[in-house]
Amino acid sequence: MLKKTFARILPLAAFIAATSLVISAQNTPATLTLHPDRPTTSISPTLYGLMTEEINYSYDGGLYAEMVRNRTFFGDWSGIHNWYLYEGGNAIAKMVHDPSTGPSTALTSSLKIEIKQADPQSPAGIVNTGWWGYSLHPNTTYHGSFYAKSDTAAIGPISVSLVNSNTGKPVASASVPAISSEWKQYTFTLKTGAIQPSVTNHLSITAPHAGTLWIQLVSLFPPTYHDRQNGFRVDLMEKMAAMHPQFLRFPGGNYLEGDHIKERFDWKKTIGPLVDRPTHRSPWNYQSSDGMGLLEFLGWCEDLHMNPVLAVYAGYSLAQEHVNPGSDLEPYVQDALDEIEYVTGGPETKWGAQRIKDGHPAPFKLTYVEIGNEDQFDRSGSYEGRYAQFYKAIKAKYPDLQLIATMPLKLMRPEVQDDHYYVRATQNFADAHHYDKTDRNGPKIFVGEWATREGIPTPNMGAALGDAAWMTGLERNSDLIVMSCYAPLFVNVNPGGMQWDTDLIGYNTATSYGSPAYYAQVIFSSYLGDHTIASDIQNAGEKLFYSATINSQKKQLYLKLVNASSDPKPLTLALPGSHPAAEAKVVRISAPDTQTTNSINDPKRIAPVESTIHNASSNFSITLPPYSIQAIQFDLR
Ligand code: AHR
Repeated sequence: MLKKTFARILPLAAFIAATSLVISAQNTPATLTLHPDRPTTSISPTLYGLMTEEINYSYDGGLYAEMVRNRTFFGDWSGIHNWYLYEGGNAIAKMVHDPSTGPSTALTSSLKIEIKQADPQSPAGIVNTGWWGYSLHPNTTYHGSFYAKSDTAAIGPISVSLVNSNTGKPVASASVPAISSEWKQYTFTLKTGAIQPSVTNHLSITAPHAGTLWIQLVSLFPPTYHDRQNGFRVDLMEKMAAMHPQFLRFPGGNYLEGDHIKERFDWKKTIGPLVDRPTHRSPWNYQSSDGMGLLEFLGWCEDLHMNPVLAVYAGYSLAQEHVNPGSDLEPYVQDALDEIEYVTGGPETKWGAQRIKDGHPAPFKLTYVEIGNEDQFDRSGSYEGRYAQFYKAIKAKYPDLQLIATMPLKLMRPEVQDDHYYVRATQNFADAHHYDKTDRNGPKIFVGEWATREGIPTPNMGAALGDAAWMTGLERNSDLIVMSCYAPLFVNVNPGGMQWDTDLIGYNTATSYGSPAYYAQVIFSSYLGDHTIASDIQNAGEKLFYSATINSQKKQLYLKLVNASSDPKPLTLALPGSHPAAEAKVVRISAPDTQTTNSINDPKRIAPVESTIHNASSNFSITLPPYSIQAIQFDLR
């Protein structure tokens, strides 16, 4: 009996002893000594950037502001998605997919609407339900267009309306007078009046008389960021701008590769007028409109002052399809060379001239080209050979480009290697020093995808803490790490919108929000110097992480502190020989627990709060709140 009790008590005693050790380590004040006068390694000016792809309705139904869902009438065994027949009153009509006629060689099919009976009081036509509705605002102009032809001029005029789905009443209407017998594009504008903002709206296109109408590429845009034609959603662009991104890695990710070679991001099919883009299936299981084509990605870079990091398709697709190095791969290498020429070439070049024709006279600055994506998953082992072939050809024509390999190579040392990490918060705490000992004579590192995956659809505070701990390591090693970007960036939080959980920014049709992890990145990228400085920490415990950088021009010291513990952490800061201004700015996010998060209905539960330290000096103490991430800006005198 005694033995049994002892056996029970012993582990309990050990637990109590261990717990009190942890508690005392956490409560023991840490001392952080900083030497702003001793810069150590340089910070890459391109450390923080963005990565996206067509996943989670990131472009279609997301950043790309097109309001019409399935504008090219894609269908399968279940019918044509997102479009419905409308038969008003006594009208009789049917709609079918017609594979025999379309407005271009890229769009060779169309929707055929056969109206047997209709009159102005009983029109017939089609309805589009949009991306989980149409988000409409008062006194706003929406620009639209469609391609159509008809077997009878008397079918018209065609009415296009935005209709309130609750009342069935139009809130904006336009009329297209007559439809020709040959394919032609028609444009219209829809202007709302003094309506309440809402998403419960749909688009209707109807005819008042009998006849047959073929229709294709129905498009409608709201006002876009910087009024760019075929452009981007304003709220999402603003959210990205607040992250001060220095580059954009595009077009993927898996989206670059496709499940099959024929479903890769075939850039030549994504440029020029929309009617010349055939659309293609994304590996995330939906059809991509390719409205976000190569030039749109570059325009996005231009709008947010980002450097393009262009990933070229390198002959491997996800369903274990690959192209053998050698003559089989040549056309793909040529495609990559053409793509680089499209981005950077002058009017004397074939593809530079094409870009100019497509509306962008100035070439884009390009420094980095990535060859493929995650080629370690190619079980044929063909990447070494494929990489070498791309490398040779690209370097021969563009010696100044920095080329990125997507996995470690044995046969050659790449200039830059792309590493990806999807982990839990505890792994990031344990791995915050991952690159501290990495050989500086090896390739430079691009952490091209990383995230702490906790929280659905968007990361919670626990994930933000894991990310922040990880970012302290990115900054400390930024002499090695030239670029880094979180992935995935976007998720449409409507039902069915998500294919990959834990995404940085969530949105629905009308509005968007940043996760706690988003705000962690905003804080980290907003307070970043040009050099790390010498520093030393005592009694940090397991859950305190920091990064200290200076901006030598501005004479500012930025100290990031991450307390991932449930307890407050006392911290003494020593800046020997430095005389910071007494007032130091603090920007912080914190939460009562790791599960607290933001959502579409509670978008700012966790958001940065600014405060001021009034007693900064060469030696002073602060207490870091539990579960907190902060940047402190010291003005050095
Ligand atoms: O970010 C989601 C996916 O994760 C990317 O498409 C792929 O590169 C990685 O496996």
